[in-house]
Amino acid sequence: MPNQPPQNLTVATTGASGSVFLRQLLLTVQRDARIQTVNFIASDSALRVMAEELGIRGRSNLIGQLLATKPAAKIASKFQEQSNPDIGANVASGSYPADAMVVLPCSVGTLARIANGIASHLIERAADVCLKEKRPLVLCVRETPLNKIHIRNMYRAADAGATIFPLIPAFYYRPAHLDDMAREFAYRVLAHLGLSQSEAFRWKG
Ligand SMILES: Cc1cc2nc3c(=O)[nH]c(=O)nc-3n(C[C@H](O)[C@H](O)[C@H](O)COP(=O)(O)O)c2cc1C
Repeated sequence: MPNQPPQNLTVATTGASGSVFLRQLLLTVQRDARIQTVNFIASDSALRVMAEELGIRGRSNLIGQLLATKPAAKIASKFQEQSNPDIGANVASGSYPADAMVVLPCSVGTLARIANGIASHLIERAADVCLKEKRPLVLCVRETPLNKIHIRNMYRAADAGATIFPLIPAFYYRPAHLDDMAREFAYRVLAHLGLSQSEAFRWKG
């Protein structure tokens, strides 16, 4: 049985808009001592979008760039970057003890591949493994407007066991900055996986 709360997390990122949400998720995961291992996978398209949105330059020290830390700084050793074309990486196998996976942001292209079992790259394969092993899989899908193919694929993925967690932030806590908004969203994703954050906004009615 997977650990609850998850200790071994897979975080994948794809070429949809919303890199700031990924950054806040990674920063939170870095701080959370309950999480011991994070396998991180970025598609090539994610690199393209992160260049636009965060000024990320290439794959060199990618996690360090996302966490805004220097190469020599002690990036939590819990992070392991995996190559998306490497379908032989640890998370490609159900025998590897991954507890849960988040795809943030999830493009509708990656959604389509996951929903239809097309596991030609590590991101889709790791997601496929989560579904077959009945492990939590959270897809933070981002696109607008949605066509019927997107909606059907969200249904298919949800029907197979994934949680469709659209990249739609809340506004009722009146976020002052984009980072605040993204951080609260990241907290909600982690809470969904049993990793509640003590500083998260809580509606009191
Ligand atoms: C700046 C930029 C923003 C994009 N935003 C989105 C988006 O919000 N949602 C989406 O599904 N695709 C978006 N795309 C298109 C995807 O990157 C493209 O379909 C890509 O093939 C997805 O590949 P991946 O799923 O392997 O990461 C965007 C592309 C660029 C360059």
